[in-house]
Amino acid sequence: MTALLKGKTIFITGATAGFGHAFATRFAKEGARIIATGRREDRLSGLQKVLGKDKVHIITLDVRDKEAVQKAIGNLPKPFTEVDVLINNAGLAMGFDRVPDTKLSDWELMIDTNIKGVLYCTDALLPGMVKRDRGHIVNIGSIAGTYPYPNGNVYGATKAFIKQFSLNLRADLLGKNVRVTNIEPGMVETEFSVVRFKGEQGKADAVYAGMKPLSAEDIAESVLYCLAQPAHVNINSIEIMPTMQAFSPFAVHRE
Ligand SMILES: NC(=O)c1ccc[n+]([C@@H]2O[C@H](COP(=O)([O-])OP(=O)(O)OC[C@H]3O[C@@H](n4cnc5c(N)ncnc54)[C@H](OP(=O)(O)O)[C@@H]3O)[C@@H](O)[C@H]2O)c1
Repeated sequence: MTALLKGKTIFITGATAGFGHAFATRFAKEGARIIATGRREDRLSGLQKVLGKDKVHIITLDVRDKEAVQKAIGNLPKPFTEVDVLINNAGLAMGFDRVPDTKLSDWELMIDTNIKGVLYCTDALLPGMVKRDRGHIVNIGSIAGTYPYPNGNVYGATKAFIKQFSLNLRADLLGKNVRVTNIEPGMVETEFSVVRFKGEQGKADAVYAGMKPLSAEDIAESVLYCLAQPAHVNINSIEIMPTMQAFSPFAVHRE
């Protein structure tokens, strides 16, 4: 079997759970060196124990902390210094309320994580990729960035930012061998809903009741497809949903 990612160094934000954990596990299996980051140190250590210290470098990192992001990326040890792939995955939906019963602090948390965190990591890693004329930024967007739904308010808006930011990065990077991909999933069962419902497990379980959602491993396969393409092929975006999820009809308010 050929190792599709042999020799690649992949920086993953949010590798302690869900997609990020699945990415680290899958891509290490394909021969990549992984830089796994997130806030929960114990989970990062667990991942490193399973995959091996030579394969995984771990950094306890909050992507909202600009200085910490710059410091972590500026101090990468050998052989992890030259990052080939950045996966901007860390993110969250916080709250599921209809405006105006929403919390400004929830909105700020989503903007700081889903938008500013992506910008801090991109800003820190992109210059090296451009200099080496080799790289790939994979942003984890969402179908929520394209299709509105009630109570999605700022979460969907942050993912719409990711969609347009990804396209504009492509526009600016024309002529460089640095690729940009936006992955836009529908429902995937991870810790996402537990976080959104602020720890209320029952509400999170109800989201996936009676249907088969996507798994984090399904998303890892989609990202692997993008990463494994020859260098001249840029997959701009992948929109991926469970077969048992489709679109709402237009809502009509009747008196
Ligand atoms: N699940 C879905 O249905 C779905 C659908 C479309 C898009 N997405 C997107 O996919 C991405 C991954 O979500 P998931 O489903 O895998 O959710 P998850 O299981 O809750 O994992 C989220 C990851 O993000 C990390 N994270 C959150 N805030 C962070 C911060 N401030 N700094 C660093 N890391 C942070 C978490 O790590 P720590 O808590 O340890 O920091 C965790 O590793 C998110 O961007 C999400 O918006 C999810």
